Amino acid sequence: MVRLGVNIDHVATLRQARYKGPGGVTPEPDPVAAAREVEAAGAHGITVHLREDRRHIQDHDVRQLRQSIRSRLNLEMADIPEIVEIALAVKPDEVCLVPEKRLEVTTEGGLNVRTAEKSLRGTVARLRQAGIVVSLFVDADLEQIAASAAVGGNYVELHTGSYANAGGSAAELRKLVAAAEAAHRHGLRVNAGHGLNYVNTPAVVRAVPHLDTLNTGHAIVSRAVFVGLRQAVSEMLEVIARA
Ligand code: PXP
Repeated sequence: MVRLGVNIDHVATLRQARYKGPGGVTPEPDPVAAAREVEAAGAHGITVHLREDRRHIQDHDVRQLRQSIRSRLNLEMADIPEIVEIALAVKPDEVCLVPEKRLEVTTEGGLNVRTAEKSLRGTVARLRQAGIVVSLFVDADLEQIAASAAVGGNYVELHTGSYANAGGSAAELRKLVAAAEAAHRHGLRVNAGHGLNYVNTPAVVRAVPHLDTLNTGHAIVSRAVFVGLRQAVSEMLEVIARA
């Protein structure tokens, strides 16, 4: 079965909306408590994005999650020296390298692996030497897939944002299928994520070959507002299992 990684950044977004600095109260909601609920529902991993501007997940969240979770920790991050050092110290199970722009609301577009090849090659090697599995977040673009293999990644995470924004279009789905096939030919394993929800996920699960893990955040945390996080994760696992 395709595995589910749950991105809990937005639990931290809610906390940061009120508690930005040290105070006399325990800040809530706690991402570590959220991770426990996600795991209790049966998800296969916890994903967090430590952004350079620290808008949601903080350094201490990553350290605490590393110590407390039993499933896999996937750290999304940009190829920035400061964050690379944190990853090497914390040693998540997996790092997903993503592009990052300060003014974006969420990650827009995949990495341009081709133009950043030199730096990425060094970063991927250092992370892999530390025993961390490395994934590159790329659009469904065959040149980017080839470049991801060339820089030594273990995985690509296919950016499903264009598919999601196009209302789950068949043309965008075909691009994801071709990209997954190309990744497999290059010896890369395949994850996917961004903008996936309870409606557009089944077609991805059915059509895209070689899929290992789907990383999904916003739809699950949004659903959790109404039904609770454990139930929201269970429902997504069911959607994947039924597909
Ligand atoms: N994968 C990557 C690389 C991302 O940057 C994000 C967003 O943080 C996701 C998956 C999850 O996207 P969404 O929150 O839209 O499900």
